[in-house]
Amino acid sequence: MNIIEVIAKKRDKKELSKQEIEYFVTEYTKNNITDYQAAALIMAIYINGMTDEEITNLTLCMAHSGEMLDLSIFGKNVVDKHSTGGVGDKVTLILAPIIASFGIPVAKMSGRGLGFTGGTIDKLESIPGYCTNISTKEFIENVQQIGISLIGQTLNLAPADKKIYALRDTIACTDSIPLIASSIMSKKIAAGANKIVLDVTCGSGAFMKNYEEAKHLSQTMKKIGRLAEKETVCVISNMEEPLGYAVGNNLEVIEAVQFLKQDMKEDVKQVVLELGAYMIKLAGYGDNIEQNKKKILQKIQTGEAYQKMVELVKRQGGDTSYLEHTEKFEVAKYRLPVIAKEQGYITSISAREVGELSGSIGAGRMKKEDPIDESVGIILCKKIGDFVKEQEILAYIHANDKNKAGQAVKKLQEIYQIQKNKKEKPNVILDVIM
Ligand code: URA
Repeated sequence: MNIIEVIAKKRDKKELSKQEIEYFVTEYTKNNITDYQAAALIMAIYINGMTDEEITNLTLCMAHSGEMLDLSIFGKNVVDKHSTGGVGDKVTLILAPIIASFGIPVAKMSGRGLGFTGGTIDKLESIPGYCTNISTKEFIENVQQIGISLIGQTLNLAPADKKIYALRDTIACTDSIPLIASSIMSKKIAAGANKIVLDVTCGSGAFMKNYEEAKHLSQTMKKIGRLAEKETVCVISNMEEPLGYAVGNNLEVIEAVQFLKQDMKEDVKQVVLELGAYMIKLAGYGDNIEQNKKKILQKIQTGEAYQKMVELVKRQGGDTSYLEHTEKFEVAKYRLPVIAKEQGYITSISAREVGELSGSIGAGRMKKEDPIDESVGIILCKKIGDFVKEQEILAYIHANDKNKAGQAVKKLQEIYQIQKNKKEKPNVILDVIM
């Protein structure tokens, strides 16, 4: 077999065999195929698409391209959760302890962020002492002892995806449904889950810009799940405006901790309850979704979910006094208000633009070696559908650079769209694809 034939076949809209996909994934991972040949094949896939069978083969080959985490000691219903990405998405920080408080094992390897804001691991590292880089042995022991561990990717999981994803980024091939679906599912399969709940975000701050695309991606991932024998549920959620009120690393940790202490922001609550209810169902702890949501609220009200977060942070070396007293988190030097220039209803706060803005003041990274500024970000005070008076505070910019802070204030003022006519608050949960 040779790569030129494989490229030509996809260029000519023909279906690639399992062997051809396996050949490409294996040899590219070993650096035996050049980046320009891989780029040609990825572009041909981008333009001509893939059949369900091709997508499943690509997923499984990428999943098996590196180490595979074996979580079988925790039984057949190991549930994992993944989001296709968003702005202000602190759901894993909240949901992981909630699920563990039911006695459902949570063994989760999460990623760092690239782009707008940090990933779950960057956010957790803003808790002083919290160690995300422990051995797989300790990771498993933590889950055995306290039912939960949240760490970075210490194993070499799905290295083919890492390589192909980095390449896609440089050749304008990120927004392809077969490529996104196989990328996400390969990592979930390599991370040991056999039941998967996916938060498929949809809107300006997400890969999928509208409901139809999000539904198509969901259906594609469900088909992969079926063919790979991993039960999968997709929740389509709105990412037109940021999720919750905090965007930025330690700011989001604080919002997550406050949530577990019963200060629950409505949109975050809806996403947490929907995803959590399906995770509980797939884990075999209750089939009734509405009942499951009530049980989650009870775990928050009794403090069990918060206590699980404390246990997790303590076990992984973090200073739990930051959870008790969130005012201890490092505060940015400048905290500047963003003022409404007119009266009216908020009609739009583009999640993408807010994400880019928080990245520009240091909350995200453009290259994976870039440092992250844990204390900077944005606190929204008003969201879509809210009424504001002229001169009322819309948001605060938290920044460590005075010039950047001033520019960010102006930019956020432009991002907020205010109109005279009332706009209803958008639905957060758009659909569930079971
Ligand atoms: N998240 C991933 O892991 N991969 C993609 O391709 C897109 C989002």
